[in-house]
Amino acid sequence: MKLMAGNSNLPLARAVAAYLETELTHASVRRFADEEVFVEIHQNVRGEDVFVVQSTSFPANDNLMELLICIDALRRASAKRITAVVPYFGYARQDRKPGPRTPISAKLVANLITKAGADRVLAVDLHAGQIQGFFDIPTDNLYAAPVMAADIQTRYGSSDLMVVSPDVGGVVRARALAKRLDNAPLAIVDKRRDRPGQSEVMNIIGEVRGRACILIDDIIDSGGTLCNAAQALTDAGAASVTAYITHGVLTGAAVARVNGSALKELVITDTILATEATQQSDRIRILTIAPLIGEAIRRIADESSVSSLFD
Ligand code: R5P
Repeated sequence: MKLMAGNSNLPLARAVAAYLETELTHASVRRFADEEVFVEIHQNVRGEDVFVVQSTSFPANDNLMELLICIDALRRASAKRITAVVPYFGYARQDRKPGPRTPISAKLVANLITKAGADRVLAVDLHAGQIQGFFDIPTDNLYAAPVMAADIQTRYGSSDLMVVSPDVGGVVRARALAKRLDNAPLAIVDKRRDRPGQSEVMNIIGEVRGRACILIDDIIDSGGTLCNAAQALTDAGAASVTAYITHGVLTGAAVARVNGSALKELVITDTILATEATQQSDRIRILTIAPLIGEAIRRIADESSVSSLFD
């Protein structure tokens, strides 16, 4: 088995390699002067089971091209099986047509990865589970929930917990986390605009007064969803509000927004390489999912069960 990495998140790839007690395959993934991507693998990979670690995070298009070209290089170097390990699968939010004459980019990206030559895909907390069906090759979707649940138990285990979904769409994810936390109660933030032009009203479904609220979501991008939900929960009398989010996309002023929010803490994972602003924020903490990805890779290579990781 061999592990290779693009440039999107080398610290994570190295941590996965350390978990697997192996080294990253010696390869150059670089740019020509006009920014075209060039990949050269400096080791023999003929007949090998190769895992390419590359998040398609910012800059999404460059990182996606790196992934595709790495896969192409491996295929032409006669790797036996190629698994695209995409801890953060970008374009996932474009998973349906929100209006006429719009693309379904998540499907297009799935086609590109398959066409480039990937035999399998391994992702973490896909924005929607059905994106697995966009691939006609085996796709494993890992959950960060066990890593988060362990951290929550350690830090907040003795508190009066309440798991909260920041929107109606995230209820399944929140319920799954609540189950891991000894069936903690569940609340939902419901955003409504009664009439066009009126400002959005946040209704909390569930009694959060005096509770240590744990907001859970897959993505924090601008931070708007989360910070507004944190404020609504605080206004409703929550004792504290902490957020656990798998993918810290954190674009624009998101870190500043989190720093000035009602959140006690934002906990993200390392599926996306943290910016300097993120690393410097004393309100943001990063959990590693390298052992989870490493263990899934080990099991895929050994042809053993991946789902039992979540039992
Ligand atoms: C939406 O469906 C996602 O689960 C996140 O809630 C959303 O992407 C967060 O975006 P933002 O941080 O920009 O509000």
